[in-house]
Amino acid sequence: MNLKSKDLLGLKDLTAQEIGHILATAKTMKVVLTTNNKKTPHLQGKSIVTLFYENSTRTRLSFELASKYMSASSANISASGSSVAKGETLIDTGRTIDRMGTDIIVIRHPMSGAPHLLARNVNASVINAGDGMNEHPTQALLDIFTILEKKGKLEGLKIAIIGDIYHSRVARSNIWGLTKMGAEVSVAGPSTLIPPGLEKTGVKVFTTVQEALLDADVVMGLRIQLERQKKGLFPSIREYARFFGLDEKRLKLAKEDALVLHPGPVNRGVELSSGVTDSEHSLINEQVTNGVAVRMALLYLLTRRSGNENTN
Ligand code: CP
Repeated sequence: MNLKSKDLLGLKDLTAQEIGHILATAKTMKVVLTTNNKKTPHLQGKSIVTLFYENSTRTRLSFELASKYMSASSANISASGSSVAKGETLIDTGRTIDRMGTDIIVIRHPMSGAPHLLARNVNASVINAGDGMNEHPTQALLDIFTILEKKGKLEGLKIAIIGDIYHSRVARSNIWGLTKMGAEVSVAGPSTLIPPGLEKTGVKVFTTVQEALLDADVVMGLRIQLERQKKGLFPSIREYARFFGLDEKRLKLAKEDALVLHPGPVNRGVELSSGVTDSEHSLINEQVTNGVAVRMALLYLLTRRSGNENTN
């Protein structure tokens, strides 16, 4: 099957069937990743540009390596080193990249909706690598892939997402994706960091971490964005860690074989204790590897859609 849209902007827009197809393709790509010869011809003749207006280690590097492993030509633009710094608009920058024959533009931007604006103005497929507080769909896909790989199913799993839900694009994409795939999602965090009305999406909302952790199959910690602290939404990092941080004792409330995920980068001792981060429950390193497989799958699926030929 083909993905319906030319772009991957969010999990809100994907069907469960499309998510399942991406995950199945990623499983094949993971086999390629774990061989000695990672080079495949899947993207020969295609070109991929990563356009990042915010810092990144995992997302940017995994897209760049995924492109190279599949024989695409790839290039990176970061806002500080480009004409964006001279005042060029996003649309003009996007059209410039498009006119060079680019097939896929991967964009990270601090404004929610920036990838959607870009997608409407270029022929290339656009992949959202994180937009403001809206979505981070490729992160959620790799999280879901990692859970499925370990648990063998998603339907009925109890998944607790802990932390700053309000500002988290990772949480939003995971809530869309996991609920579509049949998981039972609960969230917990300081009440100032829970979006009002979240219960209406079918998610259980708790204000204590203990309630959310009870019998959870999977616990997902979110990065506390230290820059948000200036807004006074919670008293202090130390108090956050005391009430919402995940340590070995608290983790015992979850199932014995509970998995711990975190999108990274981890603030050790804040969202997760070092003991939990490095424990046998933690899948943080697997998430990084699976991020490459999922991004290989997406690049492949978007370039093979019929009519996806940038003829500029
Ligand atoms: N998880 C995530 O998006 O990490 P980076 O900011 O390093 O890309």
